[in-house]
Amino acid sequence: MAQKRYLTGDRPTGPLHLGHYFGSLKNRVQFQEEGKEGFIIIADFQVVTDRLETDAIEQNIIELTKDYLAAGIDPQKTTIFVQSHIHEISVLTMLFSMIVTVPQLERNPTIKEEVKAMGQSDKMSLGMLSYPVSQAADILLFNPDFIPVGVDQAPHIELTRDIAARFNRLYGDAFTVPEMVLSEQSRVLGLDGIQKMSKSRGNAIFLKDTKEVIFEKVKKAVTDSEREIYFDEEKRPAVSNLLLLFSLTSGRTIDDIVSEFKDAGNKVFKEALAESIDAFLTPMRTRREQLDEEYVKKVIKEGTKRAQAVAHETLSRVREHMKFAYPSIFH
Ligand code: TRP
Repeated sequence: MAQKRYLTGDRPTGPLHLGHYFGSLKNRVQFQEEGKEGFIIIADFQVVTDRLETDAIEQNIIELTKDYLAAGIDPQKTTIFVQSHIHEISVLTMLFSMIVTVPQLERNPTIKEEVKAMGQSDKMSLGMLSYPVSQAADILLFNPDFIPVGVDQAPHIELTRDIAARFNRLYGDAFTVPEMVLSEQSRVLGLDGIQKMSKSRGNAIFLKDTKEVIFEKVKKAVTDSEREIYFDEEKRPAVSNLLLLFSLTSGRTIDDIVSEFKDAGNKVFKEALAESIDAFLTPMRTRREQLDEEYVKKVIKEGTKRAQAVAHETLSRVREHMKFAYPSIFH
């Protein structure tokens, strides 16, 4: 049986943090070890859906790729590529936009959330409304068998499946209808113990943070007024989240950690946690430091070239299916 192919991606908006690692990167490395073929799209055009400044994107693409490589993504097995340099995505987005209705897009709960987060629904751009259509093109050009994503992306993947099936019905089978594989929701909250870990909330530990920075951040992490350390996600989300981070980074069970630190006090517990996080991130940081910038750029360039070849082939097939190839003219 041919190896299964997956496609997933990220917007290059900043460095990756522990939430990304446990929510998706770890899975990608796992898929790679299982011999699955990976395509990772760096969705740079998608960045401008909610912010128009573009100055940082190029460097973010490079930093993001370093995070991938440091975390164990092997560019021989996993194709890392840049969305904006696959022109076929734009063409396919345009064609797909004909078979999607506006109400269908307006119903998308993730878009609604994102518009709400921007705080000005009357300023929603056409690109914001329609980026899920472009995301369907990101995906379907590469004929993946499955898409591993977090639950916030589920509406987009449903739309993608819908578009693929609809296209196949209208113009004949051109696309694999990909399966959605929901990544076990990364339960990692930020160090505020309230919200999901995220760069914009300033509550994240980045994969590239130094030991000093990790200790500093963990020291300031929110806890509560109870002295004892124990796990109770409902009543004590902040402390429970720190226990979870300890468990994920050390491989120890939460029970085991609690039994050691129950009466140790916050200071000792936090120092041990910072130690655990640092020990976990040190190999990644070391690999990252050893990466040559020119090599990283070459990985991106070659991955994009490989992706272009696949995209070109798929779009040719789409043209044939839709009778836009005009072989009598363009033979
Ligand atoms: N929308 C995704 C995010 O913000 C990024 C993305 C773009 C993506 N294209 C994709 C994810 C295709 C999976 C497949 O995280």
